[in-house]
Amino acid sequence: MSSRRKFLHQLPALLAAPLLTTQRAQASTLAEPLRQFAANDQINLACIGLGIQGFNNVNAALQNPGIKMIAACDLYTGRLARAREVYGKEIFTTRDYRDILARPDVDAVIVATPDHWHDTITVAALDAGKHVYCEKPLVQQLEEGHAILAAEKRNPGVLIVGSQRVSSILLDKAREIYRSGDLGKLVMIETFNDRFSALGAWQYSIPRDASPQTVDWDTFLKDTAKLPFDATRFFRWRNYRDYGTGVGGDLFVHLFSGVHRMLDSLGPNRIFATGGLRYWEDGRDVPDVFLANCDYAEQANHPAFNMQLRVNFVAGGGGGSRTRLVGTEGSLEVSGSSLTLRRNELPAAPGYGGWDSFGTFPENTRSEFEKWYKATYPPAPPEVEGPSEWTFRTPEGYSDHVHHFHNWFTAIREQGEVVEDGAFGFRAAAPSLAANVSYFEQKVVNWDPVTMREVG
Ligand SMILES: NC(=O)c1ccc[n+]([C@@H]2O[C@H](COP(=O)([O-])OP(=O)(O)OC[C@H]3O[C@@H](n4cnc5c(N)ncnc54)[C@H](O)[C@@H]3O)[C@@H](O)[C@H]2O)c1
Repeated sequence: MSSRRKFLHQLPALLAAPLLTTQRAQASTLAEPLRQFAANDQINLACIGLGIQGFNNVNAALQNPGIKMIAACDLYTGRLARAREVYGKEIFTTRDYRDILARPDVDAVIVATPDHWHDTITVAALDAGKHVYCEKPLVQQLEEGHAILAAEKRNPGVLIVGSQRVSSILLDKAREIYRSGDLGKLVMIETFNDRFSALGAWQYSIPRDASPQTVDWDTFLKDTAKLPFDATRFFRWRNYRDYGTGVGGDLFVHLFSGVHRMLDSLGPNRIFATGGLRYWEDGRDVPDVFLANCDYAEQANHPAFNMQLRVNFVAGGGGGSRTRLVGTEGSLEVSGSSLTLRRNELPAAPGYGGWDSFGTFPENTRSEFEKWYKATYPPAPPEVEGPSEWTFRTPEGYSDHVHHFHNWFTAIREQGEVVEDGAFGFRAAAPSLAANVSYFEQKVVNWDPVTMREVG
């Protein structure tokens, strides 16, 4: 009872109070607070892998002051030409990432290649003394995680993993609400990311000039099967297990990182996944409907609970992504730019009537039961007055992506910490990849989220 009253008192206050970062965010997507840095704090940036997310990343990075884009690496010459169009003819361009790492004028690199190249380039970049922003999922295979953590530890460079949403003021707010205890005891989480379009299902454009002359196909293949040049595999690599991580590594990873940020969780202990290829039969070897159930054991910051994840690329009627935390006292629903809190109205008394066994009792037993029930459970006034739900939205123009880069640049300049370091990134990637293992090997994966190793 008392916790419900607490719910009433705390939630409106939590939602009304802006976070410090919210106030900052209102000042033009976070550019304002960084103006204090002097010119000699300039960070020279390079991007390795300049496709869709490479350009998104550089554009978000450049909204922070004191950042200069000086070099780009990509395996398709068309994207290097585009880099010169967008960032200036004077930037250095190459098809070999080692040329970037050898340059002393490069302070920090973004790694936005397909997943199978993340570990190699991230370790090499850290060992070359660079700060690294590595896209999610941190690794393509579970076994690759610890090598990156070791490289992070032995080098001074700051590593951040690119699940930009974990820097969002929306998740700060959700985290604050969760920590206040107003949801009561966490029971379960449901989270999904549904899509209903060809681009959403990864059928990206293939340029008409794609050929072995314009694409460094051998480097792309890395240590995978030596196949002849195939522009579809190169430009739609997500659809193939050799290069990508399927729905698990591409989208579950965002759902895991968001939940881990809100709860300060290290991750689940058991992962079981199922799904299938139901519609996009374009040669891909990964499912387009993917479901997973996870068990989280009790940890310092949360009780034991269950989590259900879904990605559906055949989402009739649209799509979208949402995460709902369900507690005994309330629920919290978080989407792209807003969150909504709802009060749980769990009954205090057992019910009777309707389709209950009450209707099967003889008359005298029914009237005796009714008399007893009314005496035992007299009608009570509602425990809490006022609205049963509250909503919080991020300010217009707010970008968690710019904010994530702000987090990285601040850590570089002040030798501080980032919100998503290697361990955080690996703890989000690992259950996502474990879901793939579960699906393809048809088994439950047991995972130790503390040591970050598969169990059994
Ligand atoms: N954080 C997010 O929201 C988000 C969104 C999209 C993609 N991503 C991640 O970003 C990464 C890239 O995805 P994308 O959609 O931009 O793919 P993309 O295919 O559009 O771009 C990848 C680029 O990497 C280049 N490349 C491949 N191997 C390389 C190598 N060894 N050296 C240099 N360049 C190489 C390719 O030529 C290509 O241009 C993936 O890991 C993906 O999961 C993250």
